[in-house]
Amino acid sequence: MAANQKSGNSLYHPSEGVKMRARIKEYDKLYQESITNREDFWAKEAEELFWYQKWNKVLDDSNKPFYKWFTGGKTNVVANAIDRHLDSETKNKLALIWEGEPGDVRTFSYFALNREISKFANVLKAMGAKKGDIVTIYMPQIPEIIIAMLACAKIGAAHSVIYGGFSVEALAERIADAHSSILITADGGFRRGKPTNLKTIADEAMRRSPTIDVCITVKRTGKECFMENDRDYWWHDLMGMPIASAKCETEQTDAEDPLFILYTSGTTGKPKGLIHTHGGYSVYASSTFKYVFDIQPDDRWWCAADPGWITGHSYIVYGPLINGATILLYEGAPNHPYPNRWWQMIEKYGVNIFYTSPTAIRGLMRYGASWADKHDLSSLRLLGSVGEPINPEAWLWYYEVIGKNNCPIMDTWWQTETGGFMITPLPITPLKPGSATKPFFGNEISVVDESGKAVKHGTEGNLVIKNPWPGMARTILGDPDRFIEKYWKLYEKQGWYLTGDSAKIDEDGYVWIIGRNDDVLKVSGYRLGSAEIESALVSHPAVTEAAAIGLPDKLKGNIIHATVILKDGFSESDELANELKMHVDGEIGPIARPAFVVFADSLPKTRSGKIMRRVLKARALGQEEGDLSTLEE
Ligand code: WTA
Repeated sequence: MAANQKSGNSLYHPSEGVKMRARIKEYDKLYQESITNREDFWAKEAEELFWYQKWNKVLDDSNKPFYKWFTGGKTNVVANAIDRHLDSETKNKLALIWEGEPGDVRTFSYFALNREISKFANVLKAMGAKKGDIVTIYMPQIPEIIIAMLACAKIGAAHSVIYGGFSVEALAERIADAHSSILITADGGFRRGKPTNLKTIADEAMRRSPTIDVCITVKRTGKECFMENDRDYWWHDLMGMPIASAKCETEQTDAEDPLFILYTSGTTGKPKGLIHTHGGYSVYASSTFKYVFDIQPDDRWWCAADPGWITGHSYIVYGPLINGATILLYEGAPNHPYPNRWWQMIEKYGVNIFYTSPTAIRGLMRYGASWADKHDLSSLRLLGSVGEPINPEAWLWYYEVIGKNNCPIMDTWWQTETGGFMITPLPITPLKPGSATKPFFGNEISVVDESGKAVKHGTEGNLVIKNPWPGMARTILGDPDRFIEKYWKLYEKQGWYLTGDSAKIDEDGYVWIIGRNDDVLKVSGYRLGSAEIESALVSHPAVTEAAAIGLPDKLKGNIIHATVILKDGFSESDELANELKMHVDGEIGPIARPAFVVFADSLPKTRSGKIMRRVLKARALGQEEGDLSTLEE
């Protein structure tokens, strides 16, 4: 790769070797075709997958914004991710290489993974799960999380995976929202040398949300845990019973049947359960993965996200398995016991394509290049980044120290709502550090002002998507009005999707994401809502009102700053501030723990009673408070 100067930005060109290998040789022409004949483009992509029955209509837009894709078609993501590989030589290929934090290793061929999935699918059926149910999964990064997800899909039940770093209230409210009657969990996992206590959290969540009749627990750490009669079962016991037969037919699901619900944070306290489907989502996850990461049969792919987030769903599990790839999953932290843990994994398993977040890069960068330099990373061909804007300094470190100036970085912009990459380079794209570059095939994007007028090059505005795409979330579980309100209302006339991000487009058409322009925070790449943190704070007996904001942080992107008003009879102290931090930790999880808790007598509010977070932010940063004309007297 060579860097040259262009309009103040260095352009990094992929090497001839990478370009030669890439599936796509030319972007502009194919992109133009894909947006001119969008439905033809997606029909062609869908034809690469297996369908029990072909669709009648590629796109049904008769009830906007509730678009449907491939209607009339019958498929199942498992038919594509597992079943069809069993009839090819992929059957004996490694589907999954898993390493635990302590160094224990388990591997599964596609054949072996199918056996486990089929057995567990039969267990789920025996425990009463059926098509149309929502099964909640709350697990560490162990192979069983993938087996459980695919087993649900196989029988036509939707899964709702709750990130294993979440705590009691976050889990309880998601179980309740989904009316789940089955929970799959584990006694814990290993994180920085210590076992976590997932089952204890799950027990408390089940007390708060009594819809669960059956809880299946994987023994991972061996830590003693409470097991309630007639509710709690061990995974290994059930898998050893005759109910766990290895023969299980994959359910033929409609293209639009829900594959999963994934909760994400929005601007109100209640998390949104976004619905993704068997048909369109499979096509989108598969195509984006294939073209952007250019997966080849001999590649080893490692997406170092947690399966509990959309990145894990689309690019650990579904996209890669549909493409018959070999995936890696690692249980623990990148810096335990030493900051070379990831680089060691890349060397040990010969990883060819590696995908992580800017926060992780910045975190490892702090320890210096010598930790990476101890390892042979020459197997790497492509790198990827996701979750927040990557600052050029971190980009360059990743590029030079990890990629040895030889691996293009795919800075992929997308969201839980989009199901897959929306703005992203391809391996042939000349790169600018910090820019996600250009839209993926089929997508037209724009940066506009409130009225919908495109802003000038280099000016900040609202990032919108102007068209439907197969991977788009179909709605919010139980709340279609909120789906319209949040994403489609502002540009209703134009029919555009509002992303909630602000961005700029430069003269070359490269997109630069600035960040969220709503009350959504990105803490270490994890998505959290101000309102969720606020409701956790007011659930503490000492707090009557709270406001949480994100402050910029060099390492984590955002850190959380909370202003609280105490109830009468409570007084400010450092102890109480710490207690409140730990309270949020216990309710939502350590990722939501505020870095700062400050006490106040009142909160700045508009006359209509909305908290002016902008003012709090300015105060916290010691900046001008700006226009206060709407401030309440
Ligand atoms: C942010 C994660 C800049 C963005 C897949 C978006 C990014 C939010 C990038 C969605 C990127 C994601 N560059 N910002 N490459 N990727 N974001 O739902 O603000 O957890 O709206 O999905 O992450 O977060 P979510």
